[in-house]
Amino acid sequence: MPQQPHGPLRSFGRIKARPIKSRQASLLQTLLPTITLDPSQPINLFALKPDAAEVWLEIGFGGGEHLAAQAERRRDVLVLGAEPFLNGVASALRHIEAAALENVRLHAGDARDLLGALPEASLDRVFILFPDPWPKLRHHKRRLIQPELVGELVRVLKPHGRLRFATDWANYADWTLERLTRAAELAWTAQKADDWRMAPADHAPTRYEAKKLGDIAPVYLEFESTPAA
Ligand SMILES: C[S@@+](CC[C@H](N)C(=O)[O-])C[C@H]1O[C@@H](n2cnc3c(N)ncnc32)[C@H](O)[C@@H]1O
Repeated sequence: MPQQPHGPLRSFGRIKARPIKSRQASLLQTLLPTITLDPSQPINLFALKPDAAEVWLEIGFGGGEHLAAQAERRRDVLVLGAEPFLNGVASALRHIEAAALENVRLHAGDARDLLGALPEASLDRVFILFPDPWPKLRHHKRRLIQPELVGELVRVLKPHGRLRFATDWANYADWTLERLTRAAELAWTAQKADDWRMAPADHAPTRYEAKKLGDIAPVYLEFESTPAA
């Protein structure tokens, strides 16, 4: 009988597609090892950037455009990123090099492994932008937003820490709202429709967002971690 795989179901598609351009391939060899995170051990965030004003994490950063834009806008923030798609990691390295970013650390793998290695109440912000929609009903179990992940997000967010989720798939927006509003430790910050219909002022458009592959205009759902009573 085939063995059941351990751990969560795979939430991502390809981990490598087209050939990686030579400059990017060389950055995978040279730059990535210097900024790579090792989730096999508990991660000491202070040691990574002792003067960091805040610590942010982007889950599934794709080509890294948003991650790099945020890290460039806030060089005082330590920005972590997790992405298993190697072409995406290679592209992010190009952005990191071009903007000479010293405040970024990456995990070229599953964000769920990284979350497990992060201390409790250690993140000020988390971004999950246009995650794989897995639109077919039988694939919904592969969606990143699952109760286990919500539990981990609640654990790693600081009190008043913020989570931003964006999607252009109606069913994934509903799915996420249902699961995140169920968590007593998270509060949806929207006051009016424009708060989810308009891109937040500090948003940097992503590559996937630009493709407009979904069935609705993008929605941006922002949650705040509520301090323990
Ligand atoms: C549809 S793409 C969007 C990429 C990017 N956020 C954007 O908007 O352009 C979703 C990304 O999430 C990544 N992903 C899926 N599951 C993941 C996981 N468990 N940990 C980290 N990244 C994941 C995929 O590899 C893919 O690159």
